[in-house]
Amino acid sequence: MGDLHCTAKSSGAIGALFTGLEDVADVLALCGDLTDYGRTEEARILVRELAGIRLPIVAVLGNHDFESGVEDEIAAILREAGVTVLDGEAHEIAGVGFAGTKGFGGGFGRHSLDSWGEPAIKAFVKEAIDECLKLESGLSRLRTPSRVVLLHYSPIRATVEGEPVEILPWLGSSRLEEALNRYEPTVVFHGHAHRGQAAGVTQGGIRVYNVSLPLLRQELNDQTPLVRVVEVPRV
Ligand SMILES: [Fe+2]
Ligand SMILES: [Fe+2]
Repeated sequence: MGDLHCTAKSSGAIGALFTGLEDVADVLALCGDLTDYGRTEEARILVRELAGIRLPIVAVLGNHDFESGVEDEIAAILREAGVTVLDGEAHEIAGVGFAGTKGFGGGFGRHSLDSWGEPAIKAFVKEAIDECLKLESGLSRLRTPSRVVLLHYSPIRATVEGEPVEILPWLGSSRLEEALNRYEPTVVFHGHAHRGQAAGVTQGGIRVYNVSLPLLRQELNDQTPLVRVVEVPRV
């Protein structure tokens, strides 16, 4: 699941979304925008809400978690609470590999933004390239047959369609897809596009799920646990 957007008002509300989770899942993956304004108080509320979950939790941060400039503190609060926050690292749980990073925008396919012209454009594109290098670095370290990728931004256009066409380039980047097609993970989860589509595939045939909370609410009709359950083979 992604896009919890935890605020001061979320106390008591987020934990309830995960009722019954242990009966259907072995791991919980969180795909960024865990807080709303990227405040440490929000992160503290979130970890209290997650405290009842008796499963390993892996997460990446989203753009909202960067809003107040204290993303490192937010990651530290999550890590202290036992959440594995991935920022280009690789992590293994029960024989299944996880690689994750936030990702970035820049657009899709031949309409992707190129590093050309003003320094500000080059800096924007560099952020996307750096995020792809982090993703590749995580994936290259995993030796498990099943490998799960967590992103906040989308690697493909299909799962952001439904959002206003003017903002699609801010919702993800095909550069991320190139890394996925090269390393062929088992499945990819992302959030960020609250009004996108629930599922798509990369050109290499890798399954991609947009698990943003507003989309899951629509699809699952507010039933709990409000998560997308995907089974991957483990050795
Ligand atoms: Fe979001
Ligand atoms: Fe976001």
